Amino acid sequence: MNKPVVLVAEELSEAGLAVLGADFDVRHTDGADRAQFLPALADVDALIVRSATQVDAEAIAHAPKLRVVARAGVGLDNVDVEAATKAGVMVVNAPTSNITSAAEHTVALILASARNVAQAHSALKGGEWKRSKYTGVELDGKVVAILGLGRIGQLVAQRLQPFGVELIAYDPYLQPARAAQMGVRLVSLEEALREADFITVHLPKSKETLGLIGDKELHAVKPSVRLINVARGGIIDEGALYSAIKEGRVAGAGIDVFPKEPVTDSPLFELDQVVVTPHLGASTHEAQEKAGTQVARSVKLALAGEFVPDA
Ligand code: NAD
Ligand code: MLT
Repeated sequence: MNKPVVLVAEELSEAGLAVLGADFDVRHTDGADRAQFLPALADVDALIVRSATQVDAEAIAHAPKLRVVARAGVGLDNVDVEAATKAGVMVVNAPTSNITSAAEHTVALILASARNVAQAHSALKGGEWKRSKYTGVELDGKVVAILGLGRIGQLVAQRLQPFGVELIAYDPYLQPARAAQMGVRLVSLEEALREADFITVHLPKSKETLGLIGDKELHAVKPSVRLINVARGGIIDEGALYSAIKEGRVAGAGIDVFPKEPVTDSPLFELDQVVVTPHLGASTHEAQEKAGTQVARSVKLALAGEFVPDA
């Protein structure tokens, strides 16, 4: 009997591949290369992706045998869940696999932005010893606004508390009492923008959140504010952020995610006040191992027609 075909369209951890084992015909393709990806879908039963593969209606239409799409990570914005559901395809993800890594990376970018770590590093390696140019700011006593106090936002709050910051958050879907338990004061978006010294974004990408922080919002912030985005590109409008930093209305930013990825030239890269990483939030050995094993288990269960619990 033919083994079910599992198409792995982005890198999957060795541990994830080991969970799949020998019961499946595991194939690999480059999900970001449509000319390679679409024909590879013809006879697949399961598809495993990260964030670089667009699993849209066109892709689903190319996969008549597809039964499950597994997203080795959190955000499902690259999967057309509605089109998949219409086609009878189950969509699973690994919602807790990389949240610790994403939260830790957020803290890294907050500190890097506050203390000019990346800029001073490049300058010194380039032969420049510049102490006063890279004078930073302390976190102690500062107000940190978390936009989206979900799994990652909460881990960020926990990790920042020992720095002596005041934590506020904008998340209209969360009960104020739940936030208060975590030592976080829920506020409106306007208050968050007005009060914050640091703003960190942990929202899903959706019609409501795309461009949520645009030109108008960046006119409402303190000029000393630093913005961090380890969620999704486009939630902070890049053009508006560029202008705000250029015009001295925003002090700096730490950006891990971009509207179009991969990207190697963005106006933001010209600005010394901006520290960037190439979507590294989930890029740790631990997170990738968890994501890989969790989705591989879900794929096995789904293809066996069994109940797939939340990972
Ligand atoms: P989550 O679902 O646990 O939390 C999201 C929070 O945002 C929820 O509390 C929700 O109430 C709130 N929210 C949703 N829509 C909102 C809106 N319109 N206005 C205000 N609040 C809103 O998700 P999470 O696990 O914390 O992950 C957040 C996002 O981080 C993911 O969707 C993903 O895109 C991104 N992410 C990025 C990386 C990375 O590598 N950079 C890694 C993991 C996750
Ligand atoms: C996620 O949503 O899980 C992250 O963006 C990580 C990833 O896709 O690699």
